[in-house]
Amino acid sequence: MAPPSILVQRDYDDLSHAGADFVASIVAARPDATVLVATGETPMGLYAELALRQKAGTFDGSRLRVFQLDEYAGIADQDRRSLYGWTLRAFVDPLRIPHERVVRLPSRSDIPGGCAAYDRSVADAGGIDLAILGIGVNGHVGFNEPPSDRWTTTREVELTPETIRANTRYWGQEERIVRRGVTVGMTTLISARRVLLVASGTGKRDIVRRAMLGPVSAEVPASLLREADDVTLLVDRLAWNGMA
Ligand code: GLP
Repeated sequence: MAPPSILVQRDYDDLSHAGADFVASIVAARPDATVLVATGETPMGLYAELALRQKAGTFDGSRLRVFQLDEYAGIADQDRRSLYGWTLRAFVDPLRIPHERVVRLPSRSDIPGGCAAYDRSVADAGGIDLAILGIGVNGHVGFNEPPSDRWTTTREVELTPETIRANTRYWGQEERIVRRGVTVGMTTLISARRVLLVASGTGKRDIVRRAMLGPVSAEVPASLLREADDVTLLVDRLAWNGMA
């Protein structure tokens, strides 16, 4: 466990480029790496940059093995709010990764059984090489809402009112937000060989500081990532010191 590397970029564009460089260097060393992929707005620029490089032939992510990070509970595949669908649209399809190489979370029937099967797939794959994560305003990673301790496994959770409010950015009014989620547990995230945590904008400044500089605590699940072997925080200036 080493202190996190903190990469502060001028703005969101630079953050997206630096994030793509970071991922590309890992993929160059290990083209079939296992990658846990967050949805949310923050990593979208990074994924778009990787997609451009894939198209230009300067990067090849097609052999990656993708693991879904989180999902809303009870949602159908065709539902536009499906986070599996978002993962396919933003990462898997642009990088031409066959869908058989995606390990997904359960969302409907037998969620406990599906979560246990998911954790077995992570173990069978030899663990996660790279986890690309965002951070919620309450310090959640995936849907590991506070408090989530370091031993939590993949499971169904109740979303906090703060997260439900924050997720209206994606789908419109609160009634459209599903109130339960399924998330990869903290134990898998902390065990990832590399963790890339991305944050952008002033709205994330306070929680980024608490996660990186405050006490390591289940009350701020992102702070537990500091127990991982190799963590990189990639932020723009607004998310680090509130200055453009
Ligand atoms: C959401 C998701 C997370 C995401 C985080 C930050 O609720 N469950 O996986 O990383 O919040 O999202 P954003 O990047 O849109 O701020």
